[in-house]
Amino acid sequence: MTNQRTLSIIKPDAVKKGVIGQILARFEAKGLKVAAIKKVYLNAQTAGEFYAEHKERPFFGELVDFMVSGPCYPLVLEGPNAIMANRELMGATNPTKAEAGTIRGDFAMPCTDLSANAVHGSDSEESANREISFFFSASELA
Ligand code: CDP
Ligand code: MG
Repeated sequence: MTNQRTLSIIKPDAVKKGVIGQILARFEAKGLKVAAIKKVYLNAQTAGEFYAEHKERPFFGELVDFMVSGPCYPLVLEGPNAIMANRELMGATNPTKAEAGTIRGDFAMPCTDLSANAVHGSDSEESANREISFFFSASELA
């Protein structure tokens, strides 16, 4: 087991639903520690930069609009195999396909908009490093 850090974001839909605490409890129950967390208001520029890898995808504009629709809570998770452990906890990208018991299956349903799927999670070590430093400074992670 490798100790890792990964970036999660509690997205605006989950913040509006008032399930921040329930989502954090899922991480902690799985042995992932919340190493840092903050409230952020993204704008079109910062949301577009964060999701730059999807710039050419047809859903990019809607995703950016959604991410600026309200505050979100980026957080750093730390623990054994944190990147994959978090991806498993999240469930499938499309909440209608996410299993019950996953964060998306439980907190993003019913789902009419794929942007509104409760959480983001880094998908590799490389993206985790980039995404963590996008939101957090070294001193916030010390
Ligand atoms: O978030 P995840 O890594 O599971 O999925 P992604 O493929 O990296 O896509 C990033 C985000 O774009 C997703 O979480 C969805 O909110 C959104 N998306 C969308 O709106 N429509 C799609 N067909 C695919 C993704
Ligand atoms: Mg992704």
